[in-house]
Amino acid sequence: MRLIFLGDIVGKAGRDAVLRELPLLRERYSPDLVVVNGENAAHGFGISEDIFLKLMAAGADVVTLGNHAFDQRDTLIYIERHPALLRPANWPAGCPGRGSALVDTASGRRALVINAMGRVMIDPMLDDPFPVIARELDACPLRQACDAVLLDFHAEVSSEKMAMGHFCDGRASLVVGTHTHTPSADHQILPGGTAYMTDAGMCGDYDSVIGMDKQEPLTRFLRKLPIERFRPAEGPATVCGVAVETDDTSGFALKVAPIRIGGRLSQAEVPFW
Ligand code: FE2
Repeated sequence: MRLIFLGDIVGKAGRDAVLRELPLLRERYSPDLVVVNGENAAHGFGISEDIFLKLMAAGADVVTLGNHAFDQRDTLIYIERHPALLRPANWPAGCPGRGSALVDTASGRRALVINAMGRVMIDPMLDDPFPVIARELDACPLRQACDAVLLDFHAEVSSEKMAMGHFCDGRASLVVGTHTHTPSADHQILPGGTAYMTDAGMCGDYDSVIGMDKQEPLTRFLRKLPIERFRPAEGPATVCGVAVETDDTSGFALKVAPIRIGGRLSQAEVPFW
């Protein structure tokens, strides 16, 4: 199977770039599954139903979230209508929405997509993600119940993400990190066959501080005073993500490569499709 994952969409710059590039990615690479993280899509904070629907119309199969999942309050309501919009699986019981989705692809295959959050330096109050993800993987084992498993692990620190990659190695097709908004250069296939990348990077303007106009973050670092609200940077965005080809028999990764399109970062095309 061909899997594409795009990292955190930040504000209008990120949205416009993804809505422009995603149909082209679909046309060019014919992926079986496209997952995008939309948790910063609405002016940096959360996602509206309208934006979610536009991302789906542009070619996403699943939209994942993270710590900003419910910044737009009506998400608490409309998320129940959309099984393809995932919030982290390890949020407390009773939280609206779901943390995983089974997707039937156009090619007749089935993929499990899981969204979860780390706890270190981001939210220690969450449920432990390791047993939560183990339960998800046990409930829908790769090969027996689905052809591919993709985990978006939304976490702050690289150690927790790498540990999660190894924890899932041999049980998932791709474990990819989100939230730091900077693409890591450690995309690889782990010994057990799981593709891994510590962070996919954001889809946003990289002339910024993690997607936000740089003035206010600089002011807060220099003077320790909030002057105004954070707002997304508005320059040309780089669409960042990762592409994985899986083996149809095993469900494991055969190839993995980063994607970087447009904006300021060096460009990266998928070399094997
Ligand atoms: Fe985040």
